[in-house]
Amino acid sequence: MVAFVAVSVLLGGLVLLLVFLFKKAQGNSTPEPSIDQKVNGQALPEKQSTKKHKLHKLRNEKPQQHTFTHPLLAAVLKAHSGNITCLDFSSNGKYLASCSDDRTVRIWSTKDFLDREHRSMRANVEFDHATHARFSHDCRTLIVCLANGETLRVYKMTKKDDGFTFSAAPEDFPKRHKAPIINIGVAETGKFMMTASSDTTIMVLDRKGAVLATINTNQMNNAYAAVSPCGRFVASCGFTPDVKVWEVCFGKSGEFREVCRAFDLKGHSAGVCGFAFSNDSRRMATVSKDGTWKLWNTDVEYKKQQDPYLLHTGSWSGNEPCRIALSPDGRVIAISSISDITVYNALTGDVEEEFHSVHGEVITDLAFDTCNRFLVSTGDRAIRLFHNTAGYRAAIADMKETLKKATNKGTKERLQQQISEAQKALNAVMKKKN
Ligand SMILES: *[C@@H]1O[C@H](CO)[C@@H](O)[C@H](O)[C@H]1NC(C)=O
Ligand SMILES: *[C@@H]1O[C@H](CO)[C@@H](O)[C@H](O)[C@H]1NC(C)=O
Repeated sequence: MVAFVAVSVLLGGLVLLLVFLFKKAQGNSTPEPSIDQKVNGQALPEKQSTKKHKLHKLRNEKPQQHTFTHPLLAAVLKAHSGNITCLDFSSNGKYLASCSDDRTVRIWSTKDFLDREHRSMRANVEFDHATHARFSHDCRTLIVCLANGETLRVYKMTKKDDGFTFSAAPEDFPKRHKAPIINIGVAETGKFMMTASSDTTIMVLDRKGAVLATINTNQMNNAYAAVSPCGRFVASCGFTPDVKVWEVCFGKSGEFREVCRAFDLKGHSAGVCGFAFSNDSRRMATVSKDGTWKLWNTDVEYKKQQDPYLLHTGSWSGNEPCRIALSPDGRVIAISSISDITVYNALTGDVEEEFHSVHGEVITDLAFDTCNRFLVSTGDRAIRLFHNTAGYRAAIADMKETLKKATNKGTKERLQQQISEAQKALNAVMKKKN
């Protein structure tokens, strides 16, 4: 009897505690933006905000810009007034797009990266904000993913003076995903777009937003998904220890045929957090909860039963959230862990650089520019560019190895030329640094 009473009292206490914790959790969550805000596109004064929330707002009104210095920091791009969530280089290498919850997408010109001033062109995202932005292959449209609308909006980019004007298509695409969209992509061939959500769904769309195919990744949840730079493949990773790659197939006259399984990257022993492609899609890099990153050769003819193979495994001791970037030439890997970045030589596994507390918030995107000169990161309101010294060093070492084995005179001369150019570029950066 006594025992029974004791157990009841204990259970009762536990229930009360749970109720208390639940209430507390509710009290702390920030309210959803009101309908008014969504429709108007303006930050209206909030009616039902609690005192706590007001205090929180006040603190947010004059946010401190995070300070970070490093000898390899090449530039800081500032103009956004809200957190930046996505970066995208146009394939011609001329522009960088960034989107932020300040309801703008900004386009930066890569040619003035090293200048004192960084101009940007602004596309306003009416009634919403963009979480992701991608240039079309011809740089004539900008496709953005809407945070509240959970769908895509297409902007026409019109050249004007030395910039662009942006006009949104009259209608956004219909919302199709049941879970939040985690990434979007546009094929370099111009033939399809991709949206991936945090459940196991990937959709392949045509240019007008019609669904060509729906893929179930069967990976419990999607952690990351992307279109390969060659525009042939869609890949995804999630809870399972593999990366799955599909080919989106079109017929001779350009009509959509099917999405078929191409190959898997198998070798990790725990969930894969992210992956990245080299610019020719012949290499892929993955990072996993098993504490390693891997570099893969994906230059295979899967239709002839060839499998991609592992080139190198490196150790990684970071934490999630993390992002991985592979340099265009596949020789350098950068991995972010919360707000730190580690840069590795992809061929030897050596740690080349470590950057700590690069951003005031979690790093949301990490990429190399198309010319392999910079590593670019974001997370707070700034975009930071680092000189890719690791890339120059890796290229020099790799080309010297190739030179040793080269027998053809023309090849030798070309390699010597490339080595000396990379050395010159590296020297220039190091001179500035000191
Ligand atoms: C930026 O995002 C972080 C969460 O990552 C949030 O705590 C912070 O309030 C955001 N800042 C602004 C200005 O919205
Ligand atoms: C990939 O990047 C390398 C190094 O920047 C460059 O030389 C090469 O032309 C690029 N290839 C493609 C297909 O863009």
